[in-house]
Amino acid sequence: MKPGIEWRQPRASADSEQFAADLRAALSRSPKAISPKYFYDETGSRLFEQICELPEYYPTRTELALLQTHADDMAAQFGAGVQLVEYGAGALRKVRLLLDSIPRDSVQFVPVDISGSHLLAACDGLAADYPGLAIQPLVADFTRPHGLPPCPAGSRRVGFFPGSSIGNFTPAEADAFLRLAASELAGGGLLIGIDLVKDQQVLHAAYNDVAGVTAAFNLNVLARARHELGAEFPADGFEHLAFYNPAYRRIEMHLRASRPLELQLDGEVYAFHEGETLHTEHSHKYTVEGFQAMAARAGFRPGKVWTDENRWFAVLWLEAQRAA
Ligand code: AVI
Repeated sequence: MKPGIEWRQPRASADSEQFAADLRAALSRSPKAISPKYFYDETGSRLFEQICELPEYYPTRTELALLQTHADDMAAQFGAGVQLVEYGAGALRKVRLLLDSIPRDSVQFVPVDISGSHLLAACDGLAADYPGLAIQPLVADFTRPHGLPPCPAGSRRVGFFPGSSIGNFTPAEADAFLRLAASELAGGGLLIGIDLVKDQQVLHAAYNDVAGVTAAFNLNVLARARHELGAEFPADGFEHLAFYNPAYRRIEMHLRASRPLELQLDGEVYAFHEGETLHTEHSHKYTVEGFQAMAARAGFRPGKVWTDENRWFAVLWLEAQRAA
C-alpha cells in the first residue's frame, strides 16, 4: 500500500447552499428541527473536541480506555490485511490506538469526514506521527454512498465508527446507515462505539456541563447561520436546552427562544414564540442487545463486545455478511 496521504476529493467543507436550504426547511416545519451535522464547521469541530475533554462528558474517556485496553483483541477481529474506513473521522485520535495494533504495511486508512479543513489538519498530524502509513482521506457525507477507494487485493474492508455518533441519527437513519455499511463492508466488519442507557443524572450532566461548552456548541449552529448565511436574529434570543427523554431513550438538544422573536433568512421571516425550540440533536442511548438486534436486521452478525465496569459505554464488533 502506497504510504502517505492521497486526496480523493477537493479539500472543501459541506457547502453553504445546502446549509441554507436545510435551515429554511428546518425553520418551516413544525416542530422546527435541523440535522446535527451542521454543528461541525471549524468552530463546532473545535468545540466538540473541548466537550470530549470535559469532566462531565464520560463517553470519550470511557471509549478511549476500552480501545487502550482491548486494541489488540479488536484488531485481531479484522484479519491480516485491512482497509480501515473511519466514518466521521474528526480528530483521528481514537484510531491511533487501533493503528498501533496493526502492522503498518498491512493497513490502508480511509478517514471519511464532511469537514475538509478539519480532516486535512488531522491527516497531516497522523501522517507525521505514522510515517509509512497509507492514508486516503475522503471529504464526504458518509451517510450517503460516497465512492470508497477499491479495497486493496487480499484485504478486508473494516469500518470504524466510534464515539456513539450513530446515536445522533434517528432510528430510521441509523437503520439506513447500518444497511449501507453492511453492504460496503460485505466480507469485512464494523467496529462501533455505542453509548449505553444509564442513570439519568449522569446523562443530564454530560450535556449540561458547568463550563458551558456544550451550550456554545449548540448555539454555534445559529452563529454559523449568522456569519455564513447572513441570518438575522437577536444575539441573546436563544438558549441551550438539553434533557433526557426516557420515552425515546435519548438526550435531546434544542435552541429555545427566550422571548417571542423573529429570525430572518433570505428575505423570509420565521417567528418563534417564547419557549419555542429549534431541535438540533438527539443522542440515543442503547442496550447492547437492542443494538445488536438492530445491526442483525441490517445484515450484520454480532460478534465480540467490550464494555467498561459501569457498563456506560460499549464497543461492538459486527461481522458484515458477504453478499450472496
Ligand atoms: C458526536 N456525538 C456522539 C455527541 C453526543 O454525545 O451525542 C455530540 C454531542 N452533543 C453534545 N455533546 C456532545
